[in-house]
Amino acid sequence: MLCLGIESTAHTFGAGIVSSEGKILANAKDSYSSATGMIPKEVAKHHEQVKEQILADTLKQANITLKNIDIISYSHGPGLSPCLLVGKVFAEKLAKENNKPLIGVNHCVAHLTIGTLTTQTKDPVYLYVSGVNTQLLVASHGRFRILGETLDIGLGNALDKFGRKAGLGFPAGPKIEQEAKAGKYIELPYAVKGMDVSFSGIITAAERKLDKNSIKDICYSLQETCFAMITEVSERALAHTKKQELILIGGVAANKKLIKMLTLMCAERSVRFAAVPTAYSGDQGVMIAWQGILEYTNGRKTPADIHPYQRTDEIDINW
Ligand code: ATP
Ligand code: FE2
Repeated sequence: MLCLGIESTAHTFGAGIVSSEGKILANAKDSYSSATGMIPKEVAKHHEQVKEQILADTLKQANITLKNIDIISYSHGPGLSPCLLVGKVFAEKLAKENNKPLIGVNHCVAHLTIGTLTTQTKDPVYLYVSGVNTQLLVASHGRFRILGETLDIGLGNALDKFGRKAGLGFPAGPKIEQEAKAGKYIELPYAVKGMDVSFSGIITAAERKLDKNSIKDICYSLQETCFAMITEVSERALAHTKKQELILIGGVAANKKLIKMLTLMCAERSVRFAAVPTAYSGDQGVMIAWQGILEYTNGRKTPADIHPYQRTDEIDINW
């Protein structure tokens, strides 16, 4: 069976094709970027403009036509409503025209399951660090349970917020990673509360240092501080749950420094660590296609709808 997955929750319009054996046949995407940030209606316009081309690129990569597709899936939430609607309407139209079953899936759950597929892990602690989310989760009693999370904003959005002030453009995560390579440490607040973390105070402190300190030093210190915080809570999650695997997923999983810190921590505990490959860390349609396979082949049906605020721990694991 082949599933075509459509992603459009936020900045990225993507499409991917995955087989029921977990073979990835295609991954095409185009992301909105700007100097200032995201205006939902503008981002939705971007998605409208690129959707047909992305679909064509995806089918070309897989060397198939829509006739060869068995299921169509799309991200039904969470996300920005105007963006979610573009994906939903497009997926629904493709499903109707080609007489294929349609299933809506949760974007965050898809980040988690593309993690276990691509790292070949079974029952890990999930460290999900993206734009909106920073969460530690485990699968337990039929759902993903949140062990700890950010109390204010996700780390990706925190980095992007700093980047906007510092004139680094959007998204800022990759630029901060580059700048940090030549920086040295200056002190920033460190905010861990039990299993939870908080980033907004650190970002405000970093922004205040912009006129006195070099951008390289601030970027280095932002990474050191925020990554040490999430490494600390990840270690605590491993100690509590006694799980033997930790995986890193979500857009910030592209960051080599974060990967290095988590690798060291896990090596000291003799726990297996793996980060999702960069091609599948940020938003893309492959994870939506895989989630479509998992849920549809296990009997789930969903009405064609959008759920802008749906949480990861609302979804019953039926696979
Ligand atoms: P969510 O999945 O929670 O809905 P999202 O879909 O907006 O959020 P992703 O596409 O998973 O998020 O991740 C995007 C984020 O990843 C951006 O905030 C971006 O700055 C960040 N990011 C991307 N590459 C890097 C990097 N190399 N270092 C740090 N952050 C990065
Ligand atoms: Fe995402």
